Amino acid sequence: MTSISGIRSAHWQPWREEPSPHRPLNSRVDIFLTPAVPPDHLLPALTNLITADELQGAIGKQGNALQARTICSHATLRLLLSLYLDLPPRDVRLETGVGGKPILGQAHKKMPELHFNLSHSRAFNLFGFAAEPLGIDIEELSPIALGNGMEELVLSPAERARFQSIDASNRLDFFLRAWVCKEAIAKRTGEGLGLDFCTLDALQDDGTAMPNGKAGQVHVKLFEPFKSHRAALATSAPLAPSYVRIHAIEDLLTRTLEGRDGYAI
Ligand SMILES: CC(C)(COP(=O)(O)OP(=O)(O)OC[C@H]1O[C@@H](n2cnc3c(N)ncnc32)[C@H](O)[C@@H]1OP(=O)(O)O)[C@@H](O)C(=O)NCCC(=O)NCCS
Repeated sequence: MTSISGIRSAHWQPWREEPSPHRPLNSRVDIFLTPAVPPDHLLPALTNLITADELQGAIGKQGNALQARTICSHATLRLLLSLYLDLPPRDVRLETGVGGKPILGQAHKKMPELHFNLSHSRAFNLFGFAAEPLGIDIEELSPIALGNGMEELVLSPAERARFQSIDASNRLDFFLRAWVCKEAIAKRTGEGLGLDFCTLDALQDDGTAMPNGKAGQVHVKLFEPFKSHRAALATSAPLAPSYVRIHAIEDLLTRTLEGRDGYAI
């Protein structure tokens, strides 16, 4: 039986230094893990932070739970961006880039370079902020990810050979590592699922990410937010990740909006 090693557990820290325009990202990437499901009593406050268009998009989703999660993720993104930009959350201008990738609006081009990307799992939202374009992806270890020809769609021939050779109990882990690496790579440029995953070698035989140069000239960092999740970050240069876990949306709301007028929690 072959085991797969080499993935690092993320060491999530409470906030020590908050993001701020006075604390430039330089060669750092800030990674935030936040709850995906907002408590009901905070929905009005969170809804207050997003734009009318974002609200329309959320209302267009099926079911109250999905609507609440969409509002929560967009509000959380705005709360975090507002710290880097020192602006009220609703004043953050977002635009759509290549492949539909959300990017910071031209209105902020005088600010220091700031890029972001996000990903959702059932329980968590994962956000990355850096001074250069980045892609981030999180997936829960769930057997429904496998089957229905997914291996052919996602794994390269070399990865598929490796997948077949390892113990069945390790296959889901191997598959999801490849999946998050490739999604992160695709999301960095915005190509999304337009990237042909099965032609890309993202994993080495031992299940770790390909070193620079093999996975489309990007640096991919695999990490394990929890035993139950796999995640990856893709950047063009190796950046030092700083991991922050926010346990409660209240905490983010209070810290971000403290001292600002007009945003009652
Ligand atoms: C980007 C994509 C791969 C994300 O897949 P996913 O696993 O379902 O979703 P995740 O939770 O990881 O990420 C979703 C977030 O990624 C961001 N995102 C959306 N499109 C993106 C893109 N093209 N590139 C990078 N990030 C993108 C958004 O912030 C989105 O969150 P939101 O829906 O709340 O706004 C998928 O939405 C996709 O491929 N969409 C189609 C775009 C595409 O393929 N375009 C190329 C056509 S050739």
